[in-house]
Amino acid sequence: MKAVVLVGGQGSRLRPITYDVPKAMVPLRNRPFIDFMVEFLRAGGLEGAVLSLGYLPDPIQEYFGGRDLHGFSIDYAVEDQALGTAGGIKNAEDYLDGGPIVVVNGDVLSGMDLRVAIERHKESDSLATIVLISVEDPTAYGLVEVDHDMLVHRFLEKPAADEVTTNLVNAGIYVLEPEVLEMIPAGRESSIEREIFPYLQAEGRLRAYVSSSYWKDIGTPRSYLTASQDVLSGVVGAGKDFDFLQVAESAEIGKGVKVLPPVSVAPGCILESGATVGGRSSLGRGCRIGANAVVEGSVLFDGAEIEPGAVVRGSIIGPGARVGHDAIVRGLSVLGARCVVGEGNILDQGVRINPGVVLPPGSMSF
Ligand code: GTP
Repeated sequence: MKAVVLVGGQGSRLRPITYDVPKAMVPLRNRPFIDFMVEFLRAGGLEGAVLSLGYLPDPIQEYFGGRDLHGFSIDYAVEDQALGTAGGIKNAEDYLDGGPIVVVNGDVLSGMDLRVAIERHKESDSLATIVLISVEDPTAYGLVEVDHDMLVHRFLEKPAADEVTTNLVNAGIYVLEPEVLEMIPAGRESSIEREIFPYLQAEGRLRAYVSSSYWKDIGTPRSYLTASQDVLSGVVGAGKDFDFLQVAESAEIGKGVKVLPPVSVAPGCILESGATVGGRSSLGRGCRIGANAVVEGSVLFDGAEIEPGAVVRGSIIGPGARVGHDAIVRGLSVLGARCVVGEGNILDQGVRINPGVVLPPGSMSF
């Protein structure tokens, strides 16, 4: 059995990071997200995946080029124009064998055992099974009401707080019979959630499977940062040799530097004297942390530079971005690739700076 992984979306909620890096390639503990996806599918007993690509396909294909996945196959179905979540599945059909398939949104980090969901699906007479998870605040999600026998009863998209009737939401993981692929029009944009599932629901052929395992989508800065911190803490995706202190041998660590686990420091990083790095942070390859600078609870992409005395807390620093002397970046701020935050600026409250933007010293404080 194979999976189709939908990784063709623009990741607009995770901009400005996704202007340069496709969502599937953002790092979690210094491994691209798609690595966790492959592991998840392999652990679920699947023999391969078709990656349904559209936006920024090259970094994903380059990543897998020449990589030995020990018998797990990867194929690519690339769209010339966005085909949506159903169109993206249909476009992968040539690489499938005509049997049932698993479909996964390519931004879902899950600790569930897929084999159980597949078994439940096979035991039923449904054409599709949607995995559901229970969340505390379902108002930002697509709610799915189910009957006592797990037949899907109704969909509710992003309801107001007083309309919430269930806390079960679509986890973006499905098992589909081949008949479902036949229902999807070829060569045009269509949505599995909005077009195909409501039809199957009306026919009484759509079932749900509720998972209580770890689940997080990495689609927003907040959820991506949380997923990164969870992986660093070993909450999910931890292998048997998991180490809270993952520091590359080639990293240069100066005098008096504090490296506080859980943390991941990639090869080629330079941590200058008196710097503090940790608190569930990950530093990509070749990052430089200046003297007495502080990095906590953050993700730094490759080549990011934090100058002496600067503080980065709970934020995302894009590839090659620079935070100037004594500047403060906090509160879920996101810096795009190669942007420069000049000396003494204070960035807070989820501010996002586009790639390449240069903020002159002392020009911003909020
Ligand atoms: P936002 O723009 O932030 O909503 O992100 P997104 O469109 O990348 O993700 P969304 O959560 O809306 O979509 C769910 C999954 O479907 C993601 O993994 C996307 O990569 C994928 N996806 C969305 N649209 C397409 C598409 O047109 N083609 C393909 N192949 N995949 C898609």
